[in-house]
Amino acid sequence: MIQIKPLKAEDVPAITQIEAVSRPTPWSEKQFLDELNNSNSDPAVLWETGQIIGYIIPWMVAGEIQIQNIVVAPTHRKRGLGELLFNVALGRGLEQGCSAGYLEVRESNKPAIGLYQKYQFQMAGRREGYYRDGENALLMNLGPFESAAEQETYQRLIENRANLLQKKIKFEIVV
Ligand SMILES: CC(C)(COP(=O)(O)OP(=O)(O)OC[C@H]1O[C@@H](n2cnc3c(N)ncnc32)[C@H](O)[C@@H]1OP(=O)(O)O)[C@@H](O)C(=O)NCCC(=O)NCCS
Repeated sequence: MIQIKPLKAEDVPAITQIEAVSRPTPWSEKQFLDELNNSNSDPAVLWETGQIIGYIIPWMVAGEIQIQNIVVAPTHRKRGLGELLFNVALGRGLEQGCSAGYLEVRESNKPAIGLYQKYQFQMAGRREGYYRDGENALLMNLGPFESAAEQETYQRLIENRANLLQKKIKFEIVV
């Protein structure tokens, strides 16, 4: 059984280890711990049989959901778990009144770009040499939704995808 739970301070060493083998410029333990004191942040951790295997750090700022970080441990990828984390975070953002999304991604990161495009994020710009190692960043946007009807249509996409994921992955969200 997969569980999605809020991030706790004691989870930080385990997620920092996954981060170190997953991202070219990994976050430090302090960066993750700071999220616990950030009222805009809604960090969640993915558990399977007592082990942490992924996490997502979304911010809700001024009606916009911003994805700061999303990682699935290397040996657990391509099972739909990254999508599950993304789906849950977006759903919570919409519930809390967000009507737009924003994120930055390395230009070479095809898996992440594929995930974001699946949820209708679109290229909105490019920053040359944005990352510390000189790689370019792509800026991707969702919305902003212009009407309640547009937002409801997107909410249905989230729900439909969540139902499909529920059939594929046995999971529960622990608030
Ligand atoms: C991005 C990441 C979170 C995706 O997690 P995942 O659990 O492997 O992804 P899923 O199995 O849920 O796949 C969801 C979608 O992502 C895209 N995707 C995932 N892996 C992909 C790959 N290797 N190539 C292309 N698209 C891919 C696809 O659109 C996929 O949908 P599909 O299965 O219908 O084709 C994972 O690759 C990861 O942790 N990468 C390292 C950390 C990182 O780069 N994070 C993002 C930047 S902060």
